[in-house]
Order: sequence, then structure tokens, then C-alpha cells
Amino acid sequence: MSNKNIIVAIDGYSSCGKSTVAKALAKELHYVYVDSGAMYRAVTLYFLRNNIDITNIGVVDQALEDIHLDSHKEAGVTKIFLNGEDVSEEIRQMHVSENVSAVSAIRNVRKALVKQQQKMGSRKNLVMDGRDIGTTVFPHAQVKIFMTADPKVRAERRFLELTSKGEKITLEEVFENIAHRDYQDTTREESPLIRADDAVILDNTNMNEEEQLQFVLGEVEKVHA
Ligand code: DC
Repeated sequence: MSNKNIIVAIDGYSSCGKSTVAKALAKELHYVYVDSGAMYRAVTLYFLRNNIDITNIGVVDQALEDIHLDSHKEAGVTKIFLNGEDVSEEIRQMHVSENVSAVSAIRNVRKALVKQQQKMGSRKNLVMDGRDIGTTVFPHAQVKIFMTADPKVRAERRFLELTSKGEKITLEEVFENIAHRDYQDTTREESPLIRADDAVILDNTNMNEEEQLQFVLGEVEKVHA
């Protein structure tokens, strides 16, 4: 197989550490990294700020036209910009997490973002993480990983991340949010989270970051073999 324009699709449940492993892999291989969840979060933030009525499709479509997303690295860190504003931190806050499932279930939101994502992968080697990357965005990706981990372990990891940033929240609230998003992500009508038939499972409950990196590197090497 040609080693040009390789796509690594990493899908999986919320707070599984998808972006950590995806970023490490992109860095190691000098591929572009795209966090598709950040795109859904940025759209959600715009909807919240502008009180967009998500039941009104005309309003949603107009909002989508008014949203311009951009992502690039600053000092080695991938940032996401919503109409020119760096929203990388704000999109991680709980008010966004609580609303992102509902926004990402909207068909026209998905259509708009999937189109942008596919464009990003048209000419570059790329690692993209999300929920539907191996199934909908890049069904022909050369490498597909499906990540999972014990929900309790996932909640603990996200809890530590949020509280270290000063967010006032309990472990139970984080656990509830993760369980809620798992439910919504796997049961929604539009592109539900599902393992692609050809995706390799990576359960990282008991794995450190280096072990996960080696695992995915091994999968990419198979493409070159
Ligand atoms: O990966 P994350 O937790 O930052 O993603 C935020 C939300 O966006 C998640 O609850 C589901 C949604 N999402 C999606 O529907 N499709 C994607 N490709 C990525 C994220």
C-alpha cells in the first residue's frame, strides 16, 4: 500500500484518553492531529453563547453558516479558534460538556463538520479522533482504533483533569456526565458511536501512555509492512 496520505482514525468513548494517544502518535509520526470532538464542542459553545434554539432547523443552519472554525498549533499546543477567538480552554468546561451531546446529535451539525473533516484529510497524513471517524468520516482509513476503558477509571481521569484546572465538581457529577454521554453517543440516530468492523480495540484501563503509543504505532507499521 502507498504510504502517502495515511489516515489514522481513533474512535471511542468519552474520556478514554483518545486525544492523548492521538496527539502522541501525530507528534511521533509528524502527522497532522485533528480533535473532532473539539469542533463539536466549539459549535456547542457558539450555540450556548447565542442562545440558539436547537429545535429550530432554520436557526441552526444560519448559525452553522456564521461559524468559522480553525485549528493550529501555538507553542506546540493545538488550539481551536471559534470565529478567530481561542476557545481551547472554554470548550472543556462542564457547561459545554453538558450540552455537546444534544448539539452533536443534530444532522446538519454533523453534515457540516464531517465535510470540513474530510477536507482536512484529503491531502495530508493525519490522525483524527472522535466517535464516527472510522465509520463515517473516513470509512477507508488505513488504520482504525476503537478505544475503551472502565467507566470508573475514565471518570477519575477526567475528574483529576477538571479539578486541576480549578473546576468545582464532584467525582459523581463527572461519572454521571460520562455515563450520560456514553448513552447519547451510542444511541443517537445520526452516526452513533460504534466500532467499525475493521477497527482494532484498544482498552487502556490498565495501560500507561507509552504502552498505548507503542500499540498504535504497531498498527500504523502494519500499513507499511
Ligand atoms: O471527544 P469529546 O468528549 O471532546 O467529544 C465531545 C462530544 O462531541 C461527545 O460527547 C460526542 C461528540 N462527538 C461526536 O459526536 N462525533 C465526533 N466525531 C466527535 C465528538
